[in-house]
Amino acid sequence: MAWNFFCKAKMSVAGKHVLITGGSQGLGLAFAKLCFTRGARVTIVSRTKAKLEQACDEIRSQSSAAGGKVQYLEMDVSNMKCINFSQLMGRAADTFGRVDVVVANAGTGVAKLLIGPELSDLDELMEAQISTNLLGSLRCAIAAGQVMASDGQGGRICIVSSAAGLISLPGYSIYSATKFGHRGFLAGAYHELRRHGVHLSVYYPGSINTPGFLEEKRQMPPVTLRIESQCSDVSSPESVAAMMLSGIERGTREITNELLPSLVVDSPTGCAPVDAIVAAVTQLIRAGWSQYLHLMAKWYVPNLVRQGD
Ligand SMILES: NC(=O)c1ccc[n+]([C@@H]2O[C@H](COP(=O)([O-])OP(=O)(O)OC[C@H]3O[C@@H](n4cnc5c(N)ncnc54)[C@H](OP(=O)(O)O)[C@@H]3O)[C@@H](O)[C@H]2O)c1
Repeated sequence: MAWNFFCKAKMSVAGKHVLITGGSQGLGLAFAKLCFTRGARVTIVSRTKAKLEQACDEIRSQSSAAGGKVQYLEMDVSNMKCINFSQLMGRAADTFGRVDVVVANAGTGVAKLLIGPELSDLDELMEAQISTNLLGSLRCAIAAGQVMASDGQGGRICIVSSAAGLISLPGYSIYSATKFGHRGFLAGAYHELRRHGVHLSVYYPGSINTPGFLEEKRQMPPVTLRIESQCSDVSSPESVAAMMLSGIERGTREITNELLPSLVVDSPTGCAPVDAIVAAVTQLIRAGWSQYLHLMAKWYVPNLVRQGD
Protein backbone atom coordinates (compact mmCIF):
# COMPACT_ATOMS: atom_id res chain seq x y z
CA MET A 1 0.00 0.00 0.00
CA ALA A 2 1.62 3.23 -1.11
CA TRP A 3 -0.71 5.36 1.00
CA ASN A 4 0.79 8.79 0.65
CA PHE A 5 -2.34 10.63 -0.54
CA PHE A 6 -0.80 14.06 -0.22
CA CYS A 7 2.43 13.51 -2.11
CA LYS A 8 3.42 16.26 -4.52
CA ALA A 9 6.66 14.92 -5.97
CA LYS A 10 5.39 13.00 -9.01
CA MET A 11 7.59 11.94 -11.91
CA SER A 12 7.53 9.25 -14.60
CA VAL A 13 10.32 6.85 -15.58
CA ALA A 14 9.43 7.25 -19.27
CA GLY A 15 12.48 8.70 -21.00
CA LYS A 16 14.60 8.42 -17.82
CA HIS A 17 17.69 6.31 -17.11
CA VAL A 18 16.96 3.76 -14.36
CA LEU A 19 19.77 1.66 -12.79
CA ILE A 20 18.84 -1.43 -10.76
CA THR A 21 21.18 -3.59 -8.72
CA GLY A 22 20.20 -7.26 -8.60
CA GLY A 23 18.38 -6.75 -11.91
CA SER A 24 19.13 -10.15 -13.42
CA GLN A 25 16.34 -12.12 -11.69
CA GLY A 26 13.43 -11.94 -9.28
CA LEU A 27 12.08 -8.57 -8.21
CA GLY A 28 14.92 -6.62 -9.88
CA LEU A 29 14.25 -8.25 -13.25
CA ALA A 30 10.48 -7.66 -13.00
CA PHE A 31 11.16 -4.01 -12.15
CA ALA A 32 13.62 -3.66 -15.06
CA LYS A 33 11.04 -5.09 -17.48
CA LEU A 34 8.37 -2.73 -16.21
CA CYS A 35 10.60 0.36 -16.59
CA PHE A 36 11.65 -0.80 -20.08
CA THR A 37 8.03 -1.20 -21.17
CA ARG A 38 7.34 2.34 -19.92
CA GLY A 39 10.09 3.69 -22.18
CA ALA A 40 13.00 4.00 -19.71
CA ARG A 41 16.67 3.35 -20.50
CA VAL A 42 17.50 0.58 -18.05
CA THR A 43 20.88 -0.55 -16.67
CA ILE A 44 20.83 -3.81 -14.72
CA VAL A 45 23.71 -4.67 -12.38
CA SER A 46 24.69 -7.94 -10.69
CA ARG A 47 27.59 -10.39 -10.41
CA THR A 48 26.90 -13.11 -13.00
CA LYS A 49 27.45 -12.21 -16.67
CA ALA A 50 25.48 -15.16 -18.09
CA LYS A 51 22.40 -14.27 -16.01
CA LEU A 52 22.72 -10.60 -16.96
CA GLU A 53 22.89 -11.42 -20.69
CA GLN A 54 19.87 -13.69 -20.44
CA ALA A 55 17.95 -11.04 -18.48
CA CYS A 56 18.74 -8.39 -21.13
CA ASP A 57 17.36 -10.72 -23.84
CA GLU A 58 14.20 -11.26 -21.78
CA ILE A 59 13.77 -7.54 -21.21
CA ARG A 60 14.29 -6.72 -24.92
CA SER A 61 11.60 -9.28 -25.82
CA GLN A 62 9.01 -7.08 -24.02
CA SER A 63 7.22 -4.47 -26.10
CA SER A 64 8.34 -1.02 -25.06
CA ALA A 65 7.18 2.56 -25.36
CA ALA A 66 9.51 4.72 -27.49
CA GLY A 67 12.98 5.07 -25.98
CA GLY A 68 13.11 1.75 -24.08
CA LYS A 69 16.68 0.38 -23.99
CA VAL A 70 18.61 -2.00 -21.76
CA GLN A 71 22.28 -2.66 -20.94
CA TYR A 72 24.08 -4.49 -18.14
CA LEU A 73 27.13 -3.91 -15.96
CA GLU A 74 28.79 -6.42 -13.65
CA MET A 75 29.44 -5.55 -10.02
CA ASP A 76 29.45 -7.26 -6.63
CA VAL A 77 27.83 -4.74 -4.27
CA SER A 78 29.03 -6.66 -1.20
CA ASN A 79 32.62 -6.00 -2.12
CA MET A 80 32.85 -2.35 -3.18
CA LYS A 81 33.30 1.17 -1.83
CA CYS A 82 31.09 4.19 -2.59
CA ILE A 83 33.61 5.39 -5.19
CA ASN A 84 33.24 2.12 -7.14
CA PHE A 85 29.50 2.66 -7.39
CA SER A 86 29.97 6.31 -8.51
CA GLN A 87 32.30 5.02 -11.24
CA LEU A 88 29.73 2.39 -12.24
CA MET A 89 27.10 5.14 -12.59
CA GLY A 90 29.59 7.04 -14.78
CA ARG A 91 30.04 4.00 -17.03
CA ALA A 92 26.27 3.55 -17.27
CA ALA A 93 25.90 7.25 -18.16
CA ASP A 94 28.53 7.01 -20.94
CA THR A 95 26.12 4.95 -23.04
CA PHE A 96 22.63 5.82 -21.71
CA GLY A 97 23.10 9.37 -20.37
CA ARG A 98 22.69 10.69 -16.83
CA VAL A 99 21.29 8.20 -14.28
CA ASP A 100 17.98 9.58 -12.94
CA VAL A 101 16.77 6.69 -10.76
CA VAL A 102 18.79 4.14 -8.74
CA VAL A 103 17.17 1.11 -7.12
CA ALA A 104 19.41 -0.64 -4.57
CA ASN A 105 17.68 -4.00 -4.78
CA ALA A 106 20.48 -6.63 -4.63
CA GLY A 107 20.05 -8.62 -1.46
CA THR A 108 20.31 -12.04 0.06
CA GLY A 109 18.35 -13.75 2.83
CA VAL A 110 18.88 -16.97 4.73
CA ALA A 111 16.53 -17.77 7.61
CA LYS A 112 18.35 -19.45 10.47
CA LEU A 113 17.78 -19.97 14.19
CA LEU A 114 20.58 -18.70 16.41
CA ILE A 115 20.83 -21.64 18.79
CA GLY A 116 20.97 -25.32 17.85
CA PRO A 117 23.02 -27.88 15.94
CA GLU A 118 24.56 -27.29 12.47
CA LEU A 119 25.29 -23.61 12.94
CA SER A 120 28.92 -23.63 11.84
CA ASP A 121 28.12 -21.35 8.89
CA LEU A 122 26.39 -18.67 11.00
CA ASP A 123 29.35 -16.26 10.86
CA GLU A 124 29.56 -16.52 7.08
CA LEU A 125 25.82 -16.06 6.63
CA MET A 126 25.89 -13.00 8.88
CA GLU A 127 28.78 -11.42 6.98
CA ALA A 128 27.20 -12.12 3.56
CA GLN A 129 23.90 -10.56 4.59
CA ILE A 130 25.42 -7.51 6.28
CA SER A 131 27.84 -6.81 3.43
CA THR A 132 25.21 -7.19 0.68
CA ASN A 133 21.97 -5.97 2.25
CA LEU A 134 23.25 -3.24 4.53
CA LEU A 135 26.69 -2.04 3.40
CA GLY A 136 25.97 -2.71 -0.28
CA SER A 137 22.64 -0.82 -0.28
CA LEU A 138 23.93 2.08 1.78
CA ARG A 139 26.98 2.50 -0.45
CA CYS A 140 24.75 2.48 -3.57
CA ALA A 141 22.42 5.06 -2.03
CA ILE A 142 25.21 7.33 -0.75
CA ALA A 143 27.15 7.24 -4.03
CA ALA A 144 23.97 7.79 -6.06
CA GLY A 145 23.01 10.73 -3.80
CA GLN A 146 26.45 12.32 -4.29
CA VAL A 147 26.36 11.89 -8.07
CA MET A 148 22.75 13.14 -8.40
CA ALA A 149 23.38 16.14 -6.15
CA SER A 150 26.61 17.12 -7.92
CA ASP A 151 24.94 18.50 -11.08
CA GLY A 152 21.96 20.00 -9.23
CA GLN A 153 19.41 17.90 -11.17
CA GLY A 154 18.51 15.56 -8.29
CA GLY A 155 16.89 12.17 -8.85
CA ARG A 156 15.22 9.22 -7.14
CA ILE A 157 16.80 6.48 -5.04
CA CYS A 158 14.91 3.49 -3.66
CA ILE A 159 16.40 0.94 -1.26
CA VAL A 160 14.65 -2.43 -1.28
CA SER A 161 14.31 -3.45 2.34
CA SER A 162 11.65 -6.00 3.42
CA ALA A 163 8.59 -6.33 5.64
CA ALA A 164 11.22 -7.99 7.85
CA GLY A 165 12.77 -4.51 8.06
CA LEU A 166 9.73 -3.33 10.06
CA ILE A 167 8.68 -6.42 12.00
CA SER A 168 10.60 -9.64 12.61
CA LEU A 169 10.26 -13.25 13.71
CA PRO A 170 12.42 -16.16 14.90
CA GLY A 171 14.74 -17.22 12.08
CA TYR A 172 14.93 -13.74 10.56
CA SER A 173 16.97 -12.04 13.30
CA ILE A 174 20.09 -11.48 11.19
CA TYR A 175 18.24 -10.68 7.96
CA SER A 176 16.04 -8.23 9.90
CA ALA A 177 19.07 -6.59 11.49
CA THR A 178 20.31 -5.75 7.97
CA LYS A 179 16.88 -4.62 6.75
CA PHE A 180 15.92 -2.56 9.84
CA GLY A 181 19.12 -0.61 9.13
CA HIS A 182 17.60 0.83 5.94
CA ARG A 183 14.93 2.57 7.98
CA GLY A 184 17.49 4.17 10.28
CA PHE A 185 19.43 5.36 7.25
CA LEU A 186 16.26 6.79 5.68
CA ALA A 187 15.37 8.70 8.86
CA GLY A 188 18.46 10.90 8.56
CA ALA A 189 19.40 10.73 4.89
CA TYR A 190 15.91 11.57 3.58
CA HIS A 191 16.09 15.21 4.68
CA GLU A 192 19.69 15.74 3.70
CA LEU A 193 19.10 14.35 0.20
CA ARG A 194 15.80 16.24 -0.27
CA ARG A 195 17.80 19.46 0.20
CA HIS A 196 19.63 18.48 -3.02
CA GLY A 197 16.52 17.46 -4.96
CA VAL A 198 17.08 13.74 -4.40
CA HIS A 199 14.06 11.71 -3.23
CA LEU A 200 14.99 8.70 -1.13
CA SER A 201 12.47 5.88 -0.60
CA VAL A 202 12.63 2.57 1.21
CA TYR A 203 10.41 -0.30 0.09
CA TYR A 204 9.32 -3.01 2.58
CA PRO A 205 7.80 -5.85 0.49
CA GLY A 206 6.39 -9.05 1.99
CA SER A 207 7.16 -12.49 0.49
CA ILE A 208 7.68 -12.56 -3.28
CA ASN A 209 7.74 -15.57 -5.58
CA THR A 210 11.38 -15.23 -6.77
CA PRO A 211 14.28 -17.67 -7.20
CA GLY A 212 15.84 -16.17 -4.05
CA PHE A 213 12.71 -16.73 -1.94
CA LEU A 214 12.21 -20.30 -3.22
CA GLU A 215 15.79 -21.15 -2.22
CA GLU A 216 15.34 -19.43 1.16
CA LYS A 217 12.11 -21.34 1.79
CA ARG A 218 13.81 -24.67 1.08
CA GLN A 219 16.12 -24.14 4.07
CA MET A 220 13.74 -22.33 6.45
CA PRO A 221 13.51 -23.52 10.08
CA PRO A 222 10.01 -25.00 10.75
CA VAL A 223 8.99 -22.16 13.11
CA THR A 224 9.82 -19.52 10.49
CA LEU A 225 8.03 -21.46 7.76
CA ARG A 226 4.94 -21.81 9.94
CA ILE A 227 4.74 -18.10 10.79
CA GLU A 228 5.49 -17.13 7.16
CA SER A 229 2.70 -19.32 5.83
CA GLN A 230 0.19 -18.11 8.46
CA CYS A 231 0.93 -14.40 8.13
CA SER A 232 2.18 -13.59 4.66
CA ASP A 233 0.79 -14.11 1.16
CA VAL A 234 3.38 -14.69 -1.54
CA SER A 235 3.08 -11.98 -4.21
CA SER A 236 4.23 -12.12 -7.81
CA PRO A 237 7.41 -10.17 -8.67
CA GLU A 238 5.38 -8.25 -11.27
CA SER A 239 2.79 -6.97 -8.76
CA VAL A 240 5.51 -6.02 -6.25
CA ALA A 241 7.53 -4.26 -8.98
CA ALA A 242 4.42 -2.29 -9.99
CA MET A 243 3.89 -1.19 -6.38
CA MET A 244 7.52 -0.14 -6.11
CA LEU A 245 7.41 1.85 -9.34
CA SER A 246 4.23 3.60 -8.28
CA GLY A 247 5.86 4.53 -4.92
CA ILE A 248 9.03 5.83 -6.60
CA GLU A 249 7.06 7.84 -9.17
CA ARG A 250 4.90 9.41 -6.44
CA GLY A 251 7.93 10.14 -4.26
CA THR A 252 6.52 8.03 -1.39
CA ARG A 253 9.05 7.90 1.42
CA GLU A 254 8.18 4.47 2.85
CA ILE A 255 6.50 2.02 0.47
CA THR A 256 4.76 -1.16 1.68
CA ASN A 257 2.47 -3.82 0.21
CA GLU A 258 1.28 -5.64 3.33
CA LEU A 259 -1.21 -4.51 5.97
CA LEU A 260 0.75 -4.89 9.23
CA PRO A 261 4.00 -3.35 7.92
CA SER A 262 2.04 -0.58 6.21
CA LEU A 263 0.70 0.49 9.63
CA VAL A 264 4.16 0.56 11.21
CA VAL A 265 5.73 3.11 8.83
CA ASP A 266 5.96 6.82 9.71
CA SER A 267 3.03 8.77 8.35
CA PRO A 268 1.15 5.83 6.71
CA THR A 269 -1.63 8.05 5.34
CA GLY A 270 0.26 11.33 5.05
CA CYS A 271 -2.50 13.06 7.11
CA ALA A 272 -1.31 13.80 10.68
CA PRO A 273 -4.64 13.35 12.60
CA VAL A 274 -5.41 10.05 10.84
CA ASP A 275 -1.80 8.90 11.39
CA ALA A 276 -2.17 9.56 15.14
CA ILE A 277 -5.19 7.20 15.29
CA VAL A 278 -3.40 4.58 13.16
CA ALA A 279 -0.38 4.79 15.51
CA ALA A 280 -2.56 4.06 18.56
CA VAL A 281 -4.20 1.06 16.87
CA THR A 282 -0.77 -0.13 15.70
CA GLN A 283 0.52 -0.24 19.28
CA LEU A 284 -2.23 -2.74 20.12
CA ILE A 285 -1.49 -4.84 17.02
CA ARG A 286 2.24 -4.85 17.87
CA ALA A 287 1.49 -6.08 21.38
CA GLY A 288 -0.59 -8.92 19.87
CA TRP A 289 2.18 -9.74 17.37
CA SER A 290 4.76 -9.95 20.16
CA GLN A 291 2.52 -12.33 22.15
CA TYR A 292 1.95 -14.46 19.01
CA LEU A 293 5.73 -14.75 18.42
CA HIS A 294 6.27 -15.67 22.08
CA LEU A 295 3.81 -18.58 21.74
CA MET A 296 5.13 -19.72 18.34
CA ALA A 297 8.70 -19.79 19.71
CA LYS A 298 7.52 -21.72 22.77
CA TRP A 299 5.71 -24.32 20.66
CA TYR A 300 7.98 -24.66 17.63
CA VAL A 301 11.57 -23.71 18.53
CA PRO A 302 13.16 -27.00 19.61
CA ASN A 303 14.34 -27.06 23.23
CA LEU A 304 17.92 -28.36 23.34
CA VAL A 305 17.84 -29.43 26.99
CA ARG A 306 15.82 -32.60 27.39
CA GLN A 307 13.80 -33.08 30.58
CA GLY A 308 15.95 -34.80 33.22
CA ASP A 309 19.32 -33.89 31.54
N1 LIG B 1 11.72 -12.57 -2.36
C1 LIG B 1 11.19 -12.16 -1.23
O1 LIG B 1 10.32 -12.81 -0.64
C2 LIG B 1 11.62 -10.83 -0.65
C3 LIG B 1 10.83 -10.27 0.37
C4 LIG B 1 11.21 -9.05 0.90
C5 LIG B 1 12.34 -8.39 0.43
N2 LIG B 1 13.08 -8.96 -0.56
C6 LIG B 1 14.26 -8.24 -1.02
O2 LIG B 1 14.10 -7.95 -2.40
C7 LIG B 1 15.37 -7.93 -3.04
C8 LIG B 1 15.34 -8.85 -4.24
O3 LIG B 1 15.02 -10.14 -3.78
P1 LIG B 1 14.75 -11.36 -4.78
O4 LIG B 1 13.94 -12.32 -4.02
O5 LIG B 1 14.32 -10.86 -6.09
O6 LIG B 1 16.25 -11.96 -4.87
P2 LIG B 1 16.85 -13.07 -5.86
O7 LIG B 1 15.83 -13.79 -6.62
O8 LIG B 1 17.81 -13.87 -5.03
O9 LIG B 1 17.74 -12.17 -6.87
C9 LIG B 1 18.81 -11.44 -6.33
C10 LIG B 1 19.44 -10.59 -7.41
O10 LIG B 1 20.50 -9.85 -6.79
C11 LIG B 1 21.76 -10.19 -7.41
N3 LIG B 1 22.78 -10.17 -6.36
C12 LIG B 1 22.84 -10.94 -5.24
N4 LIG B 1 23.92 -10.63 -4.53
C13 LIG B 1 24.56 -9.63 -5.19
C14 LIG B 1 25.75 -8.90 -4.97
N5 LIG B 1 26.52 -9.14 -3.90
N6 LIG B 1 26.10 -7.95 -5.85
C15 LIG B 1 25.36 -7.70 -6.95
N7 LIG B 1 24.22 -8.37 -7.22
C16 LIG B 1 23.83 -9.33 -6.36
C17 LIG B 1 21.51 -11.56 -8.04
O11 LIG B 1 22.37 -11.83 -9.14
P3 LIG B 1 23.82 -12.53 -8.94
O12 LIG B 1 23.63 -13.62 -7.93
O13 LIG B 1 24.19 -13.01 -10.29
O14 LIG B 1 24.72 -11.43 -8.47
C18 LIG B 1 20.07 -11.39 -8.53
O15 LIG B 1 20.04 -10.62 -9.70
C19 LIG B 1 16.39 -8.32 -1.97
O16 LIG B 1 16.95 -7.16 -1.41
C20 LIG B 1 15.54 -9.04 -0.94
O17 LIG B 1 16.11 -8.99 0.36
C21 LIG B 1 12.75 -10.16 -1.11
